[in-house]
Amino acid sequence: MAAPLKIMTVFGTRPEAIKMAPVVLELSRHPGLITPVVAVTAQHREMLDQVLQLFGIVPGHDLDIMAQGQTLFDITCRSLQGLNTVLAAERPDIVLVHGDTTTTFAGSLAAFYHRIAVGHVEAGLRTGNKFSPFPEEMNRKLTGSLTDLHFAPTATARDNLLAEAVDPAAVFVTGNTVIDALLATVDDRYEFAVPPLADIDYRSRRVILVTTHRRENLGEPLRHVYQALRDIVGEFADVEVVFPVHRNPRVREVVNAELGGLARVHLIDPLDYQPFANLIARSHLVLTDSGGIQEEAPSLGKPVLVLRDTTERPEALAAGTVKLVGTDRRRVYDETRRLLVDQAEYRRMASACNPYGDGRAARRIVDFLLWKHGLAAAKPEPYTSG
Ligand code: UD1
Ligand code: UDP
Repeated sequence: MAAPLKIMTVFGTRPEAIKMAPVVLELSRHPGLITPVVAVTAQHREMLDQVLQLFGIVPGHDLDIMAQGQTLFDITCRSLQGLNTVLAAERPDIVLVHGDTTTTFAGSLAAFYHRIAVGHVEAGLRTGNKFSPFPEEMNRKLTGSLTDLHFAPTATARDNLLAEAVDPAAVFVTGNTVIDALLATVDDRYEFAVPPLADIDYRSRRVILVTTHRRENLGEPLRHVYQALRDIVGEFADVEVVFPVHRNPRVREVVNAELGGLARVHLIDPLDYQPFANLIARSHLVLTDSGGIQEEAPSLGKPVLVLRDTTERPEALAAGTVKLVGTDRRRVYDETRRLLVDQAEYRRMASACNPYGDGRAARRIVDFLLWKHGLAAAKPEPYTSG
């Protein structure tokens, strides 16, 4: 019998961990056929560990690279150096990376230098703007150039790859694994364990859930967003802002300066994924510059105002659940206010839409890998939305 296929997953930040967790768990369901190995760069530390713990994932390799105030050069160099050693020792048949972080790019480059095949999960997202989001747009394009198997979450992502002349046989549409994680986590009966989430009356209060972290928004753009939020809270007495603040000190500094000490503004540490996902489900609306939350909130029927000028996730935009509002103080205030006073507009944006997945993306990815390597007879069916 042939030796099992050795598949190494490489990731390092919170969103990669959330979206790779279903893949890691699925890979472990095929003993004898697949030997899974998990290598984390730990580009994030606490925010990564929160996810590893929730899904019960114990990495075989942990590069522990995170440093306060790390630069893109730090992350790239430390990841490459560390992965060189890990790949030389493990010699996997394939390396799976996810999405668009600097860990993703370094992981695919390290695999390429070792002449190891690369599988890219959440492949093909594009804004077409090199600097927005920065550096993610180039990270995913560069990763795409190094990739042998592209797991595109949607037909739009597949078409982006085909437009770049990627071989159609190397592209497989799977749905986004974030929906696998979300469906396994959100539960109407979930009870928040600690204040302030446990103390809020979600029926009489309107919760605005906020997250921000994009590098291109650091500094003045974020300050303008927070000022708009201050205006909203002053005007609407039934609004509670819940803001799990990213651990980046450059985010924290401005958040504290603009929103610290305000009544009904809850500045809290990053939440574990389970309370966070359930909080989206209980919120009235979401303001964010996150990528993943743009996929999760529409599935739960929550309007999202995206604090960015571009998005690589046009599907929910087309469906009307998501609106791009940028970071201009007046625009953020106007659009948020509109959703608080105009019930018809709120209802229009709040109809659930699910273009991103059906909860079976990880299964498709692993089944495709088994089929591709002659370990399963049938090619799985691709994901189609709707
Ligand atoms: C990174 C990714 C971004 C992704 C985001 C998800 C890059 C260049 N950026 O951005 O694509 O959308 O993660 O959140 O790959 N920190 C901690 N503890 C943590 C995590 C971060 O203290 O658990 C602090 C550290 O001071 C760190 C800083 O946050 O230096 C910034 O982290 P970094 O990974 O460089 O950038 P993010 O903005 O988190
Ligand atoms: N998230 C979380 N706790 C938080 C904030 C976000 O678990 O306090 C989850 C969220 O549900 C989503 C992911 O983190 O799955 C998004 O991560 P982030 O916004 O940091 O990165 P991006 O998606 O923009 O790359």
